[in-house]
Amino acid sequence: MRDKLFEAARAAAKIAHAPYSQYPVGAAILTEAGHVHSGCNIENVSSPEGWCAETSAIAHMVMNGEHDIAEVCVFAEKATRATPCGGCRQRLMEFGKRDTPVHLCDANGIVETVTLGDLLPAAFEIVE
Ligand code: THU
Repeated sequence: MRDKLFEAARAAAKIAHAPYSQYPVGAAILTEAGHVHSGCNIENVSSPEGWCAETSAIAHMVMNGEHDIAEVCVFAEKATRATPCGGCRQRLMEFGKRDTPVHLCDANGIVETVTLGDLLPAAFEIVE
């Protein structure tokens, strides 16, 4: 399943729309139900209007009726170890847990596996 997740992230990066940064990113989410949803970064000529690969993958997951992230894979061909940006860490946490594995990849495969809690130890939450 790890290989399948990596391949999905790599394939997503191939169709990224990243003409401005020239930095294609792919992300793949494995859900608790065992399904894989992927996404790429989609940039815009008006820079702040672009969004990240992880955000696209989350959109696919939710639009397919799923809300529970089991594992995440982030891929960037140019990275030595692709990590999710701060905003995407918070977005992933919305659907994952502190111990959800996040696989950080380079062009050849998984370089390191961390958890969402490692990436965002003080995630924003509303405690009533
Ligand atoms: N990017 C992602 O897709 N995911 C991240 O977590 C980090 C950054 C994208 C945004 C932008 O299109 C490009 O990488 C360069 O910053």
